[in-house]
Amino acid sequence: MSSVLLNNKIVNKSYKKDFPSLCHNSDGAVITYLDSASSSQKPAPVIDIMTRTQRTHYANIHRGLYSWSQETTNLYEGTRCKVAAFIGGDKSEVVFTKNATESINLIASSWGADNLKADDEIILTEMEHHANIVPWQLLQKRLGFKIKTIPVNDDLQLDLDAYKSLLSPQVKLVSFVDICNATGVINPSSQIIEIAKKYNPSIKVLLDATQGVIHRLIHVRKLGADFVVFTGHKLYGPTGVGVVWVNRDVLMAMSPYQGGGDMIDNVAFEGTIFKEGVERFEAGTPAIIEVIGLGEAIDYITNIGRENIFKHEKEVFMYLNDRLREIGSLVLYADKAERTAIASFNIEDCHPSDVAMILDNDNVYTRTGHHCCMPLMKIMGVEATIRASIGLYTDKDDIDRLCEALGKAKRMLL
Ligand SMILES: Cc1ncc(COP(=O)(O)O)c(C=O)c1O
Repeated sequence: MSSVLLNNKIVNKSYKKDFPSLCHNSDGAVITYLDSASSSQKPAPVIDIMTRTQRTHYANIHRGLYSWSQETTNLYEGTRCKVAAFIGGDKSEVVFTKNATESINLIASSWGADNLKADDEIILTEMEHHANIVPWQLLQKRLGFKIKTIPVNDDLQLDLDAYKSLLSPQVKLVSFVDICNATGVINPSSQIIEIAKKYNPSIKVLLDATQGVIHRLIHVRKLGADFVVFTGHKLYGPTGVGVVWVNRDVLMAMSPYQGGGDMIDNVAFEGTIFKEGVERFEAGTPAIIEVIGLGEAIDYITNIGRENIFKHEKEVFMYLNDRLREIGSLVLYADKAERTAIASFNIEDCHPSDVAMILDNDNVYTRTGHHCCMPLMKIMGVEATIRASIGLYTDKDDIDRLCEALGKAKRMLL
């Protein structure tokens, strides 16, 4: 990639130019942002459309017969079509929520509450984000079903033989993560779904594609899952919008999650008739501007081309791992597993928070902690790791700055 002058510093020209926050630091510092797995930076077109809509034709959706309301409705519903095309589904299967967490809570509160009984079992994995554990535990308290977990092996990959042995006639749901946010481990999701459906086609499968949808192709129809969830703010879109894709047959049999305006055909004190399709799950005024922003993020990604993004990310990620392996006294977790975009590590005898603070001093932003995967951290025998995660704007200069700062941290702490 060619070089450009940015804040009086030479940096590689990359997708960074599309991300104002990475180009305009107030004190002229170059920021090395390596926390994309937590939340991504936003490209200018996303910021612009959200501002422009509010400046020029903002109105509530689905209700007004005037032009502004219709324009805003078209943009909102346009995003539903874009999301459907992006993941290989149909727009009649795409429900907007506020984030991936709410998406999983929706499935638990609606499908779960209607279908799970005390004698049933559900299968999660040891590498789940808390968002795919706690909603099921809340429901378990009410209904009393059993939660079983697919263990991870020494390489922090799922043990598929153990998974097969967990399947039983009582299992009603398998719910698992596509790419682990704490380690970057990529799961063989198609195989996991196929195993469940082969054992019993009526087992429902939920795929948490929150990290997966950013770094690899998620095609809901080819995967054969029943539910796929993700969040907008990691996919270069704004906060406040999430997605749950539900297979149409399953969706049509699901009860509403929340009640209120815009999800009904008729309301009377004698009883209410709900709308038939996805609208049934979007009670009240939704995150209109944020949904429009997500649509623009999908356009932005599609215009660059996902194959180009994945190629770039693969190159930078390989470079990141190679450079990290050169640093002595560094433990790189799941090093032998197939991983992408996320490197989780510790420096021996150094507290990860101390390291992260030294990195921050050099404007290198990483994430430190349990990454909302406390059960996995327990298995790994650590309380926390340092996590460097990349996005489409990350380049090799970012990795060089990380490794330079890590070297400095080692000299200071050891
Ligand atoms: C794998 C995974 N699932 C779920 C979530 C929850 O996402 P959100 O906080 O946007 O609901 C995250 C966030 O880090 C995640 O990485």
